[in-house]
Amino acid sequence: MAEETNKDPLHGVTLQMMLEKLHGKYGWDGLAARIRIRCFDSDPSVKSSLVFLRRTPWARAKVERLYLQAFVPRKKRPGARPAAGKAAGALATAAPPTEPARTRPAEAAPDAPSIPSPIRTLRLVLAPIDRSYADDIFRFFTPAVTRYMYPKPPEALSETLAFIDGSVTTNTSGRSLQVVVLDGATHEFLGCAGLHGIDTPRPELGIWIKEAAHGHGYGLEAIAGLVDWARANLSFEYLSYPVDKRNAASRRIPERLGGIAVREMKELNKSGFELDEVEYRIQCSKSAGEPSGLAAGAST
Ligand SMILES: CC(C)(COP(=O)(O)OP(=O)(O)OC[C@H]1O[C@@H](n2cnc3c(N)ncnc32)[C@H](O)[C@@H]1OP(=O)(O)O)[C@@H](O)C(=O)NCCC(=O)NCCS
Repeated sequence: MAEETNKDPLHGVTLQMMLEKLHGKYGWDGLAARIRIRCFDSDPSVKSSLVFLRRTPWARAKVERLYLQAFVPRKKRPGARPAAGKAAGALATAAPPTEPARTRPAEAAPDAPSIPSPIRTLRLVLAPIDRSYADDIFRFFTPAVTRYMYPKPPEALSETLAFIDGSVTTNTSGRSLQVVVLDGATHEFLGCAGLHGIDTPRPELGIWIKEAAHGHGYGLEAIAGLVDWARANLSFEYLSYPVDKRNAASRRIPERLGGIAVREMKELNKSGFELDEVEYRIQCSKSAGEPSGLAAGAST
């Protein structure tokens, strides 16, 4: 009574078939935003990409993973887990979204990719985090950047990889939206941002930008992009933005987005430094005086 059917969802699917189908769905720009390899970015073609992918197992593995996420129903994927809740369904929707997820049942897209789609703002791409950004994150998450943050800089690359793996897990299960902030034109790594607890009524925002890129409006634009995304895709009471009172640049971000300071708290961060924080809350609907279009780059 041996089971005859081949359980490998990639059985009979050639690399070329995968690539052509992925290209049809995402285009070269969308592929380059999801998998950072030069052949998707610079003068891309199926032929040149195949040459590279056939010689580069790690890149091929990423293409196969994306194909599974995009086209193979979750229950048929290797190591499949039960479908995630509403937020995971929401994450599967390409951004910028056109339809609020709160009106869309999770079951509506059973075959949807389980990783979030990149969010585009005028100058940035907010791409779901993955291991290909480990070197950048390790390099730029410095003591100066973490001064007013809870985490401390990693001492070894393995710590960064563990953070990324944890983020991928919470992203794919619909509990967070942890992204890297990239220059929309060059895909230069600029920093990280996140919405944590997106399956709860009070998701929390977080952001850091590498020092060399401070002061160009990227932090504000990235958070505005996440807030817009949350308003369109999630049902929440408010978005929480805790920030140290001395962190003037960071405080400006929720203030620009209509956030109201509601409570204060103190805690030791992982470096042993006492944070003296205030929590801003950004409401689900835009407040009266809130400027529009910040995520579209109007951060003057
Ligand atoms: C906080 C942080 C993300 C801001 O990012 P950024 O891209 O440098 O900030 P922006 O250029 O978008 O500026 C945001 C606002 O802060 C203001 N600002 C920028 N630098 C400032 C500074 N040194 N002092 C006071 N205000 C400053 C900007 O003028 C802008 O306000 P405005 O729109 O009213 O003009 C960035 O400084 C950072 O990564 N810091 C280290 C990590 C961190 O503290 N993260 C936040 C934890 S809550």
